[in-house]
Amino acid sequence: MDSRIVEMPVDAWAQVECRPEWISALEAGKVLYFPHLGFQPREEEKHLFTPAIRDPKSRNISLNADGRLAGALGDAQTQTLLAGMVGRFREQALELIHGLLPRYTEALRVAPTSFRPMQVESRAQSWRADDRRLHVDAFPSRPNYGERILRVFANVNPHGQPRVWRVGESFETIAQRFVPRAKPYSAWQAKALQALHVTKSLRSEYDHLMLQLHDGMKRDLDYQRDCEQLTMPFAAGSVWVCFSDQTAHAVMSGQYMMEQTLHLPAARQYDPAASPLGILQKLTGRELV
Ligand code: SIN
Ligand code: FE
Repeated sequence: MDSRIVEMPVDAWAQVECRPEWISALEAGKVLYFPHLGFQPREEEKHLFTPAIRDPKSRNISLNADGRLAGALGDAQTQTLLAGMVGRFREQALELIHGLLPRYTEALRVAPTSFRPMQVESRAQSWRADDRRLHVDAFPSRPNYGERILRVFANVNPHGQPRVWRVGESFETIAQRFVPRAKPYSAWQAKALQALHVTKSLRSEYDHLMLQLHDGMKRDLDYQRDCEQLTMPFAAGSVWVCFSDQTAHAVMSGQYMMEQTLHLPAARQYDPAASPLGILQKLTGRELV
């Protein structure tokens, strides 16, 4: 397998070079790995690194675009400190993406930034929600019509523990395997899901197929075991970037991560044909949105 991970010789968030080979690697679904770039917590932020800071009613701590913090426990001072730390990561993540991918800048939509203090191995979940199984990201309630999910991750573990992922085969290969087994799209079912508020808008055929890939991969234990994959320990104090709707990924272990999601219309990529929407439309021979 040609390497799905590209090591990046970058050691600062700002003014990163923009190289065509990095852009095409990212848009081909590879992971850009920055072993020499890390998020640095300040001395006074170090006590925030405890799972007890998360409100057990929330999956993650997140900072909304308007600066509001959700999912955290603690007094006003703690919450302000947390919001400041997560906000600083957001700025750095945006700076990195603007440098690497300047053509995206105008078209990006910034989603909330998250801080995940939980130990991965401790999460008990249904197979569908289990991110320890290889998958591409697709969300049942939020149809996105082919809009991309670009993510910047930072392993901020203070004890040197890596965040271990498995990274799977290319999106084309996954689509060739799972599209033929996908349940057919049903327009009336999509309308019913919307009417029942299961989805926030009408689920398109694209969204249906992406969920079929997500579920098809996660449900198939032989595939999970036997498909081409590599195990990648992202070091404590490192950063990585990928399109998580395209890169097959699974998280096996680790604790304390920051994550910034950015959305981008597929048409605003350098090569829109490389997107999951482009690939699925080519494979099925029809418009999916
Ligand atoms: C995921 O997006 O599947 C989880 C990634 C992680 O927690 O490292
Ligand atoms: Fe995921």
